[in-house]
Formats: sequence, structure tokens, C-alpha cells
Amino acid sequence: MSKFEEDLIAKYDKPVPRYTSYPTVPDWNLEAFEKEEYLEGLSKSFAVNNDEGLSLYIHLPYCESLCTYCGCNTHISVNHQVEYPYIQALLKEWRMYLKLFKQRPKLKEIHLGGGTPTFFSADNLRYLIEEIKTSVELLPGYEFSFEGHPNNTTYEHLKVLKEVGFSRVSFGIQDFDIKVQKAINRVQPFDQVEKVTHWARALGYHSINFDLIYGLPFQKESSIKDTIEKVNTLRPDRIAFYSYAHVPWKRPGQRAYDEADLPDPSLKRKLNVIGQNLLRDNGYLPIGMDHFALPEDNLVKAFEEGRLHRNFMGYTTSNGQLLIGLGVSSISDTSYGYAQNAKSVKGYLMHIERGELPIVKGHTMSDNDRKIKRELLAVACEQKIQTKEALKLYSEQRERLEDLVSDGLLEKTADGFEVTLTGTQFLRNICALFDPNFGKQKGSKVFSQSV
Ligand SMILES: C[S@@+](CC[C@H](N)C(=O)[O-])C[C@H]1O[C@@H](n2cnc3c(N)ncnc32)[C@H](O)[C@@H]1O
Ligand code: SF4
Repeated sequence: MSKFEEDLIAKYDKPVPRYTSYPTVPDWNLEAFEKEEYLEGLSKSFAVNNDEGLSLYIHLPYCESLCTYCGCNTHISVNHQVEYPYIQALLKEWRMYLKLFKQRPKLKEIHLGGGTPTFFSADNLRYLIEEIKTSVELLPGYEFSFEGHPNNTTYEHLKVLKEVGFSRVSFGIQDFDIKVQKAINRVQPFDQVEKVTHWARALGYHSINFDLIYGLPFQKESSIKDTIEKVNTLRPDRIAFYSYAHVPWKRPGQRAYDEADLPDPSLKRKLNVIGQNLLRDNGYLPIGMDHFALPEDNLVKAFEEGRLHRNFMGYTTSNGQLLIGLGVSSISDTSYGYAQNAKSVKGYLMHIERGELPIVKGHTMSDNDRKIKRELLAVACEQKIQTKEALKLYSEQRERLEDLVSDGLLEKTADGFEVTLTGTQFLRNICALFDPNFGKQKGSKVFSQSV
């Protein structure tokens, strides 16, 4: 890594949100949120957006054991008796939404996230999806995707989910080095990953994603190189290359290893650059924050055609305006407001038993919020700043703008600015330009580092 790259990363490596929403969750105005008003917004959004189709995110929180680095909302259980009641609760929640909608919903996306969706048996997942399918009209070209843990994804899971409409799967890989795997309590042999990948291909899944992380305990240059080399033999269509988010104040599991075993900031930056360069050398194109894809993948086509979108599920190809989140901790986005469900399984089930939507907090969008969100999305998805509003906003941030231009992260174009190849590594920092709350968050321990 050159001195220039090293300096640049050192300068921009700050706590910055990932901007899967605007405002980000810590900046929601909780006092001003009212459930009734939110539900009115939901009905309006449904009336306007149903023809375009809804997106459904379903959170399946259980995992059999805790990977100590994990930053997701998980509930550890070895007792599989929890599956059926949880699925019944999800369906009950979905029926509450059906009652609020005046017509049959049209559906274009389902994403099963976690936790570990493949903690659930293939039969229970089939039941969940088939029940939902009986209540909706599926739009042509719909996309169903799920997150699978390679250690417990069976051939049966892949086969059954394919039968009910799934065509995309994302496997958590993280790192193949056994020392790293032991430190994060996630021993996962290459053979296992190879097997599930081959099964998915043979069954006709058209998009396979691998999640990788840099910055994990004991990771070094050779482990990143070796991991990416192994990954390359399997040629997943997409790769997410995440920066390890170290947030032990939120995820005490991360205290299981000594902070001294984490790569120091300089090594972590090096791992990032090495990984990104290797992914590019292997023919993967960067398509936004943390994401890479093969040139023929539809995420790349969407990026090239300006159709890329970003929401709580990450990057998607459909510009959905109505996202319903079901299950523990899920977030819904009606474009008039956000709402989040109870974060604990117990709290969630209690609301459902009482027959009420398990929404515990949210945010009502103002016109200004919507404007800023549009500009942030243009940076995150199109890597451009070119509308009038953006330039106006930007003129309020002249010093920071000029700094980004002189550092080579942005370049001037005829109608605004474009993110440079170097700048793609710092999209989070560039988005932060438009975020009036950035830097004002109470306390420093809110977001993870940007690199
Ligand atoms: C819900 S998990 C994936 C599905 C399944 N539970 C598994 O582990 O294979 C989602 C992804 O979030 C990423 N992730 C989890 N904790 C993270 C952290 N602390 N920093 C960065 N990425 C993290 C991992 O790459 C992980 O694959
Ligand atoms: S990484 Fe996946 S399997 Fe591991 S604890 Fe987190 S959600 Fe569960």
C-alpha cells in the first residue's frame, strides 16, 4: 500500500453510519413518532405503491451457537421446538398487515435474514413461505433470497426453498483461516462451503453471494489472500467484503477475544486494500459500499443503468418504496416513516399474543428527510452528486467538499461531481456530507469505523 493510500485511509477512517436508511436509527426522532400516524402512512404508501410491488424482510433470529464477532440481532438456542411457534407468530403478524391493506398485496421481493434462517427446518420454511404466497399476488420477475449458514444449510433446505420460489442465496464465509475461525467460534471447512455452493448451482440458484470480513482477530495478509483465492475457485456471483464492526458495548460477545488480537488500524487498512485489489484482479467489479459482483450479475447491470437501490437489506435491483419487516427487530420503511419491531424474542412474542403489531419505535419522515435521503442514495447507488438540491446542500459544506476533491475521492463533472475509483472505498464518508446529524450523535460509541 502506498504512503498516499495509507494517509487517505487514516484520514477517513472514522465512525460513520452504513446509511442503509436515512435518518439512521440512532437519529430517529422517537418522541415525535406516533403509531397511528405511522399506520396512516403505511395505508397511503400501500395505495400508491402496491402496483409496483412490496418487499418483505423476514427476520429469523435463532442461531445454534454464537459467532463471537457477530453484530446481528441473534438469539442462541439449541432447542428447535422454538421454530414452529415463531413461524406462527410471523404469520399472525403478516395477517395483521393484511387486515390493514385494502386489497391483495402484490409482492416482488422476500428476503429471509437472521440470525440463521437455515436454523429452521426446510419444512417449517416451506410452510411459512407457502402461507404467505396464498395471500399475495406475485409480480413477474419476483426475487426471493435467503441467508444460509454453510454449516447447517442442507440439500433439503436449498431444494425446498428453490421449489417455493427462491433463486438467490447468501452464505456467510468470513475467513477460511482456522486460527481466525477458532477465535470467532465459527469453524467452517472449505469443503463444506464448496459442497453447499455446488448444490445451490446444481439446483438452479442464479445468484450466490459470499460474505467476507476483514479486521477479524488474528487475520493477516496471508489469511485474506488465501481466503480470497479459495473463494475465487467457487466464483460466487456477488461478494460482500465487510469491515469488521467492533462494537463490544452493543455486542458483548466480541469481548470473547482480546482486543490486542485484532489487526491494528494500519494492518486492518492494509487488509482492506489487499482484499479489494484481489477481488478486482479476479474480475469482480465494485458496486457500492462493501459490494462486488461479476460483470454479468444483475446488480452490475442495475448499477450501470442507474437502477441500483439501497435499503435495510443492502443493495437491491428494485427501487421499492414499501418494505415490510416481519419478526424480531425488523424495520419497515413506508417512505412516509420507519418503524422497528421489539428487539427481544420474548417482547416480540408478547405483542403478537396480544394481537398487536410489535412496533416499539419509529421515525416520521419530513419533506427535508426525504430530500436528504434521495441525495444520499444518489451517492450510495449512482456515485453521483448532480441534482440542484445536492449542489445546494453541498455549497453549505464547501470546505469538506473541496477536501474530498483535493484528496481525489470526488471529481468535478459538467453537472456536478462523480465519485472516483478511490472514492468508492469511502462512500460512507461522502454520504455523510449530506447528513446534518453526522458528528452530532451523542457519545462517540454509536457507529463502527468506516474502514
Ligand atoms: C446474519 S449473518 C449471515 C447468515 C448466517 N447467520 C451466517 O452467519 O452464515 C449476516 C452477515 O453479517 C456480517 N456480520 C456479522 N457481524 C458482523 C460484524 N461485527 N462486522 C461486520 N460484518 C458482520 C457477516 O458477514 C454475516 O455473514
Ligand atoms: S454470524 Fe450468523 S450464525 Fe453467527 S451468530 Fe451471527 S447470525 Fe448467528
